[in-house]
Amino acid sequence: MTPGSGVGSGDTVAGLLAEIGDIGLDPVRGGYSRPVLSTAELDLREWFLAHAGKRGLDVETDRNGVLWAWHAPSGSRDGAVVTGSHLDSVPGGGAYDGPLGVASALVAFDRLAARGVGGADAPARAIAVFPEEEGSRFGVACLGSRLMAGAITPERALGLRDADGTTYADALRASGADPRHVGVDRDALGRIGAFVELHVEQGRGLVDLDQPVAIGSSILGHGRWRVSIAGVGNHAGTTLMADRRDPMVAAAQLVLAVQRLARAVPDARATVGRLVPVPGGTNVIASRVDLWLDVRHPDDATTLGLVEQVRHAADAAAAEQGCTAALTEESFSATVDFDAALRDELRGVLPEAPVLATGAGHDAGVLKEHVPTAMLFVRNPSGVSHAPEEHAEDADAEAGAEALAAALEHLLTRRTRGL
Ligand code: GLV
Ligand code: MN
Ligand code: MN
Repeated sequence: MTPGSGVGSGDTVAGLLAEIGDIGLDPVRGGYSRPVLSTAELDLREWFLAHAGKRGLDVETDRNGVLWAWHAPSGSRDGAVVTGSHLDSVPGGGAYDGPLGVASALVAFDRLAARGVGGADAPARAIAVFPEEEGSRFGVACLGSRLMAGAITPERALGLRDADGTTYADALRASGADPRHVGVDRDALGRIGAFVELHVEQGRGLVDLDQPVAIGSSILGHGRWRVSIAGVGNHAGTTLMADRRDPMVAAAQLVLAVQRLARAVPDARATVGRLVPVPGGTNVIASRVDLWLDVRHPDDATTLGLVEQVRHAADAAAAEQGCTAALTEESFSATVDFDAALRDELRGVLPEAPVLATGAGHDAGVLKEHVPTAMLFVRNPSGVSHAPEEHAEDADAEAGAEALAAALEHLLTRRTRGL
């Protein structure tokens, strides 16, 4: 993880990603496991801060743990043009989800510097790196941007627990951060004039269109719910089949019901990606099973309606096994349409780029409620994401960084062009 030498160093996106290629490798799944505030994620933050420093950017960690790297020629950070993404990953994720946006931002800033973009009266520009975008450790996606935007209370965020029972507050303290400072940050939000997040595409849209880069139009509404099914723990050998109240059987029925219900709703996606038996022993009938449900649909009422159907299915499956079920919402993000004016401006800058929707969540979706926000996507030839097979060709990654540089240059210079 040796940083390059900054402006004019010839850093490429692929070269930057190669520097962090050993950080957070997952020996079991393959790919990367870089949960927020893990050693891996903290090493990635250091790598980013080192690169920002080498480029002469002013670095800052805000009260919500968002890293900022600033180029502010006039001294003012108001109306800043901001890009960025995240460095945490899902368990066993790909190399590009998040880091591609951060590495591309560094390369785009190099290009802006090389082109002399940003005279004394130009708006500031910054790269922002958001913590816990995936929610893979504490359960709520986009935790840093939600805190910044006031979309989650500090009390709730600090009380979130990881799989080991560690609270977000304790994890922050252990990393040297002060949890008392987290919460809505109107100053940080208020200084963003426009936000553009570049991300690897997480589907096959660009492959099918044979294009390297797209402009984002919208994010599918999505949310996460926890279902806890409580039964009676007992001995696997001495408990007759007729005497059992086994929550694992109810959970299995529920997983099948989720698939059946979602398949009946056009455009719906519903996933049970995590299921935890308590206590979890081969010769132990579980006393409780927790499972997590991810539901997405372009129409928010349809998403919530589908979740209600799952709630009924959970109650029915639990009752059939002599168990009880409780379904609770952990997070919900309404469908987002990105800023139409900004999107159209970017279409002018990148006339070849198609406009694509995404089914994946992003910090840009949270910020969109507060600032003009846009996204760029880079072709992923595998069409796979949240898995080690996620990929971007080096040439496409460079095309993405160039598209980002062009978009940022447009936004940084439109005032001088009278736009
Ligand atoms: C994040 O990538 C999500 O869509 O869950
Ligand atoms: Mn991402
Ligand atoms: Mn992701």
